[in-house]
Amino acid sequence: MATLEPVDRTKMSVDDIYRELKYRIGEYTPDFELRVKAELAHEINRLKLERNAVILGHNYMEPALFHSVPDFVGDSLDLSRKAANTDKDVIVFCGVRFMAETAKILNPTKTVLIPSLKAGCSLAASITADDVRALKARFPGIPVVTYVNTYADVKAESDVCCTSGNAVAVAKSLGADTFIFLPDEYLARNVARESGKRIIVPRKLPDGALVVDDTGPFDMVGWGGRCEVHEQFSVADIQAVRSQFPDVVILSHPECSPEVVAASDFSGSTNAMIRYVEQTTAPRYLLLTECSMGENVAAANPEKEMLRLCSVRCPHMNQITLEMTRDALLNMQYVTEVPEEIRVRAYRAVRRMLDIG
Ligand code: 13P
Ligand code: SF4
Repeated sequence: MATLEPVDRTKMSVDDIYRELKYRIGEYTPDFELRVKAELAHEINRLKLERNAVILGHNYMEPALFHSVPDFVGDSLDLSRKAANTDKDVIVFCGVRFMAETAKILNPTKTVLIPSLKAGCSLAASITADDVRALKARFPGIPVVTYVNTYADVKAESDVCCTSGNAVAVAKSLGADTFIFLPDEYLARNVARESGKRIIVPRKLPDGALVVDDTGPFDMVGWGGRCEVHEQFSVADIQAVRSQFPDVVILSHPECSPEVVAASDFSGSTNAMIRYVEQTTAPRYLLLTECSMGENVAAANPEKEMLRLCSVRCPHMNQITLEMTRDALLNMQYVTEVPEEIRVRAYRAVRRMLDIG
């Protein structure tokens, strides 16, 4: 599942797709629903050929979509790489807006479609390009690492981007004693913890001024952005699960708080969590991440038991449906544009990340 091998479903009939969906999600999905989804997926795969398109699907896509239309599924880092290397004319990004923008930054001559304009992200919304400029003015000469979960104008103000899959490696690659790391406070604190750095997190006042409450030396400057999904998990959740299921392995995304990450058995990007589940010999596991991904992982690992703590669906990823993906290809909507002056500067930061490997 995390292998990211291309999946060619363009030759599959409606019945073939129906059978695949039945195998993956038939346990909890009524047959007539599977049939409707299979017909939609078949139409999408036909349109994809007609438009010479590639469909990229983030690991958080809802199960029926995840298992029926993407050519590639994966985490932000892998999908950025796939977007960078595609030879198709059209990229349909079944993910959120910052992901589609990253694809456009890497492929200015291609048409990049996102099926819904409502697919935002609380982290990307937490910071503006003005905020980054204010931070750079307050902490001059310090390099800026920006999480890929940001919009293009914020990336354009940055020296290098990172994802949850390479944040520590990117930070190390700077060779700098001190750096700014934006905008996810928890990811920054997790990077600081892993690399033995001292972090401060300035606050923004309503008038835009920056206040630093922490005193004393620091190596990292963070920002107060939070993922509205991952901030909901708590150490109390983990303790309750462990007391009921002592043999469970607990995996958390690094957008969870440092306390939750410390109390987990493993923390990593969505792909890293998928690989961990594939390889573990533990009889049961719990994923502290977005809950559609849980269903996708459970479908791929039927021999292992997944505990369902999760009731947290990302409302932004949830905007992307099979119907909207079909409409995206049918009507060539919604075209993702990035102004060229911003794109070239954002490209440098994204390219530098990809070159780190
Ligand atoms: P990954 O880079 O791990 O796929 O995470 C993206 C994301 O939005 C997590 O909430
Ligand atoms: Fe953004 Fe969190 Fe949704 Fe990921 S899960 S897209 S970080 S809001």
